Amino acid sequence: MNEINVPRPNNLDAFWMPYSDNKYFKDRPRMLARAEGMHYYTPEGREILDGTSGLWCCNAGHGRREIVEAIQKQAAIMDFAPAFQLGHPIAFEAAARVADMTPEGLDRVFFTNSGSEAADTALKIALAYHKARGESSRVRLIGRERGYHGVGFGGMSVGGIGPNRKQFGALLPYVDHLPHTHLPAKNAYCRGEPPHGAELADVLENLVALHGAETIAAVMVEPVAGSTGVLVPPVGYLKRLRDICTKHGILLIFDEVITGFGRLGANFGAERLGVTPDIMTMAKGLTNAAVPMGAVAVKNDIYDAIVTGTSAGIEFFHGYTYSGHPLAAAAAIATLELHRAEDLPGRARALEPYWQDAVHSLKGLPNVIDIRDVGLIGAVELAPRPGKPTQRALDVFRRCFDEGVLIRVTADIIAMSPPLICEKPHVDRLINTLSDAIMAEAA
Ligand SMILES: Cc1ncc(COP(=O)(O)O)c(C=O)c1O
Repeated sequence: MNEINVPRPNNLDAFWMPYSDNKYFKDRPRMLARAEGMHYYTPEGREILDGTSGLWCCNAGHGRREIVEAIQKQAAIMDFAPAFQLGHPIAFEAAARVADMTPEGLDRVFFTNSGSEAADTALKIALAYHKARGESSRVRLIGRERGYHGVGFGGMSVGGIGPNRKQFGALLPYVDHLPHTHLPAKNAYCRGEPPHGAELADVLENLVALHGAETIAAVMVEPVAGSTGVLVPPVGYLKRLRDICTKHGILLIFDEVITGFGRLGANFGAERLGVTPDIMTMAKGLTNAAVPMGAVAVKNDIYDAIVTGTSAGIEFFHGYTYSGHPLAAAAAIATLELHRAEDLPGRARALEPYWQDAVHSLKGLPNVIDIRDVGLIGAVELAPRPGKPTQRALDVFRRCFDEGVLIRVTADIIAMSPPLICEKPHVDRLINTLSDAIMAEAA
């Protein structure tokens, strides 16, 4: 083990850590200091296999030279330039590259700095679109129970994870939710898309009957719900949602922050699952997380309604100082080039059967109550310790980390999403370590 020469903080107080048990962490810090390929390294030099692509984002693996050099080069050429009423070539190039990858017809790209900003931007675009077309009454936004669309007020309101909402008051008005699609009694341990539950999409018809289609602007869902603990859409579910939205003039937004950029063995979840939304959000894998960036791709007629349809002047009163930031744009171009050159979606597709067998080999271990997978995503749901929900999965997480493997937990669900450069021996190490940890925490 080679110690890594990084500054060692002697005061952990100032950094209020996001989505963390600050007190627990600061009592027992667990630091990562370096990353390369499939691995992280602790400051002491201990190697940790990355079973989660960081936070579902380093799809091309860590420390990719091509991305690092693109960022370094751009930083030296031009660190920043405003994108309000001015342009810099690299942002246009990045948008064109994204548009090349998105499903046909989603050719206009708005840049943000995160998935949360992409979610709120998508919702604002939906509202502006209907207003531009003279349907100002369409202000209602529909999400789904257990959905996650980041932490802005829009995404949080449309999102459906209780603890993420309960601290923050009234949230946005005029929001409703579809039921989640988790049907363990019918679908437990199924491989890939579950067979039962397409009819849950029909609840959208009930919401239309309740509120009136003329009040509904958009439905936003993750093609595969990730943060809640991996819920794969039932066969036919997304197609039904698509059809109902089309029938009633409601925009369908896919939040592809996790499912984009090869995670499901295709450029986007839309492609893999065969359903094209009107608006698509993305982030994370867009720049391999080397520089924060998000984006919203929209159908051309949405752009036309808002932009072409407005007479002179600013057409959409929205944007971020860092929209299309040169360093992020450089990272995006280099990342998307790597995706193309190394066919990362194809690699994920090729590994998927092996991955699926490996993840499902955990069936039968003590306290395992469900296993789910799609693309290079796998989830193992554990029975909670009596009276101590979330504790068993956290203990498994800590044990895996101590054994040199990074997994992710949500409640008592373990989620895995390794970089798409993953090879079979990495899968074996990840699953074997997890298996040992589940056994050890069986008591
Ligand atoms: C589906 C989805 N949308 C939005 C977000 C929020 O992205 P960010 O944390 O970059 O704001 C996430 C983050 O995990 C996500 O999974």
